[in-house]
Amino acid sequence: MARVLVTRRLPDGGLAPLEGHEIVGPRADDEPYPHDELVELAAGVDAIVCLLTDRIDDRVLAAGAGRLRVVANVAVGYDNVDVAAAARHGVVVCNTPGVLDETTADLAFALILAACRLTSTAEADLRGGRWKGWGITQYLGVDVHGATLGVVGYGRIGRAVAARAAGFSMRVLHHARRPTGEEGYVADLDTLLAGSDVVTLHVPGGDATHHLIDARRLSLMKPTAVLVNTARGTIVDEAALADALHEGRLFAAGLDVYEREPEVHPRLLQAPRTVLLPHVGSASARTRTLMATTATSAVATVLAGGTPPNVVAP
Ligand code: GLV
Repeated sequence: MARVLVTRRLPDGGLAPLEGHEIVGPRADDEPYPHDELVELAAGVDAIVCLLTDRIDDRVLAAGAGRLRVVANVAVGYDNVDVAAAARHGVVVCNTPGVLDETTADLAFALILAACRLTSTAEADLRGGRWKGWGITQYLGVDVHGATLGVVGYGRIGRAVAARAAGFSMRVLHHARRPTGEEGYVADLDTLLAGSDVVTLHVPGGDATHHLIDARRLSLMKPTAVLVNTARGTIVDEAALADALHEGRLFAAGLDVYEREPEVHPRLLQAPRTVLLPHVGSASARTRTLMATTATSAVATVLAGGTPPNVVAP
């Protein structure tokens, strides 16, 4: 029987694959463990099941070194885990690819529709008693159908969003670091940004994509364009995005992720024509349960001496 730290509460059934092992955590209040506590706990367990709210850095991994065998992040993104440090300390890192693509693509499309059609602004007015009746010039958005969608990052989720766009008669362009050989590929990100009516981001977080969408790139986008981010907040320079929205250099934005979650840049909170969601991309009951069992199954496999399919390479 191994000892497994589970840092936060999981959906019902999420721990089933770990039956027979001793579970440590989560905290009674289900808040993330303070980092020092995480370091202390890591020293006494064989495995960690963590969420993207936990920073699994060199300190945590060094504390676990010798006993700790596997860290499974209940998310497809793993920018909260120092994968290189894990490799140095002989710890396997797993994530949850494949199970959340369609659910996240649904949410990205919800944000595309909501941002283009100004649904948050319109609903806020209605709820606030500011809607005085139908008006022909009210809440004029931009059409989704027939628009050009620029998909930045063409992995599983980017492709799932592109598939949905086809049903809306959108023209779809995509950018990826390596040529895809597929129709719509644009090698130069700047060119894709300048030519798209809606841009949706699907690259991983981390150093390589930090502020990929910065003030300069935002300035390349059409003033009628809409930016949607369901990937990681760090990909966009939030201050620059807020400026562009406030100054009308970008039509609208739909965001599910933020640079310093759960903080949201105060100027984004005030920005016009902006739809803001609290990181709910994968939040369907079925998908969140699948994410949990994917992570805990991987832990069970490693503890049994096997190699799960969802190991992250350093
Ligand atoms: C959620 O953001 C994930 O990476 O799964």
